[in-house]
Amino acid sequence: MKTFCNLQTVQKNVPFAIRALCLLATVTLLGATVAGCNSTNAPIDAFLPITTNNSTATAIESAAPILPATRIAYSTIHLLPAHFVNDNAARYVAPADNPVTDAGATLGRVLFYDKKLSLNNNTACATCHKQELAFTDNKRLSEGFMGGQTRRHSMSLNNIAYIDADGGGGNGRGGAATMGFFWDTRAATLEIQALAPIQDPTEMGMTLDSLTKRLAQTDYYKPLFASAFGSADVTSDRIAKALAQFMRSLITYRSKFDIGLQTNFQNFTAQENRGRAIFNGRDGNCATCHGTRQLIMERPENNGLDAVSTTDLGLAEVTGNQRDAGRFRVPSLRNIELTAPYMHDGRLLTLEDVVEHYNSRVQPHPNLSNQLRANNQANTPRRLNLSTADKQALVAFLKTLTDAEFIKDTRFSNPFAVLP
Ligand code: HEC
Ligand code: HEC
Repeated sequence: MKTFCNLQTVQKNVPFAIRALCLLATVTLLGATVAGCNSTNAPIDAFLPITTNNSTATAIESAAPILPATRIAYSTIHLLPAHFVNDNAARYVAPADNPVTDAGATLGRVLFYDKKLSLNNNTACATCHKQELAFTDNKRLSEGFMGGQTRRHSMSLNNIAYIDADGGGGNGRGGAATMGFFWDTRAATLEIQALAPIQDPTEMGMTLDSLTKRLAQTDYYKPLFASAFGSADVTSDRIAKALAQFMRSLITYRSKFDIGLQTNFQNFTAQENRGRAIFNGRDGNCATCHGTRQLIMERPENNGLDAVSTTDLGLAEVTGNQRDAGRFRVPSLRNIELTAPYMHDGRLLTLEDVVEHYNSRVQPHPNLSNQLRANNQANTPRRLNLSTADKQALVAFLKTLTDAEFIKDTRFSNPFAVLP
């Protein structure tokens, strides 16, 4: 068998179980090769492919992650884009008790892509947060492990580390304890957020107890936990921390917009610059809510999708205050071209629909945010009256936020290699 254990020699005519075994044996963690090939009593069923009944995931993945011999430098990714570091308006936020480490985020990456996190081994975080779609999916509502639908649309995970969940940062306008993760801001930290989908009865259906037991029995996790946290013990706190570290590493900084930030937007077409002016200026007023270089929100807002909130009250479900009904937080608009459909329930299918919403369709909700009112009246929503050319320019600007490198960056990709 040893001769098969060089990836180059893993040929298509070698039976699948042996190929999987060899891939596993080739995994190097902590600089040491995981035993497998020479071990005569390795349980064969541990190497069987994980089957899936999920319609979107038909590829067969390796039974264990394939990680590079040299650890990826996740801890410094947020320092790469100098134009972010100098951006005082939106700060990179990582809690003191969970800084991003290379080993921690590596573990987080494996967890993020591991279907073992769901009860029936068929759904990973990445099932609903796909890299090629800036870590969301293209469904109005996502499909959970048993095929059930989530209540809301999946959120993209772009530069999520810049969302200041404790409300204290941003450009000083925060302060209200209203920022947090999810559309309704109900998770105060990314660490709290990370354990929610695992236990959600529709999304992954696990208990933390069975998950920690399952992972403790999975060989490839022992060295991953040990190098991330100093011992191989699997705890839900460590799972949450590692997932949060990986998500804080998902930094997008190579879009046309980013080059523009560094070149005074000389790389933009006239149309894109017109769109940028509408977005930032009074014509569109978009940046008052989707602000900073990260195009994130300081606090949840009501953007007038409905005149009355009925099925989903948004922030009011967390605060119990009717004045928060219809207020939602929104992911960064970076990579927005890739993350359709739009809004918390995925009701708008295209960017053109979104622009038309703000142009002429904002509804007179009693809690409508000030920025979208005419004469400060909630019952008279503002109409932008943009020309066709201006609407097209706004869409063209939004498309400059697409980062083609981010969605194929191998630092963020599936470590469970798809087998040939
Ligand atoms: C079945 C689909 C599904 C799975 C699996 C899933 N998510 Fe999500 N994710 C969603 C949906 C839907 C939302 C929005 C839910 C809401 O706001 O109520 C969401 C929201 C989030 C957010 C909030 C983003 C923000 O800007 O506030 C994060 C972070 C996230 N998910 C991470 C994860 C992680 C980590 C996992 C795996 C442990 C995971 N998700 C598994 C569908 C899924
Ligand atoms: C009052 C604050 C506010 C203003 C002003 C505003 N937005 Fe929004 N925007 C929101 C909120 C809140 C949501 C999410 C609403 C929901 O899903 O319930 C949103 C959602 C979006 C989305 C969809 C995001 C996603 O991930 O689904 C896009 C795109 C968008 N806005 C673009 C714009 C543009 C372009 C403008 C200017 C014409 C603009 N916004 C002005 C608050 C605002």
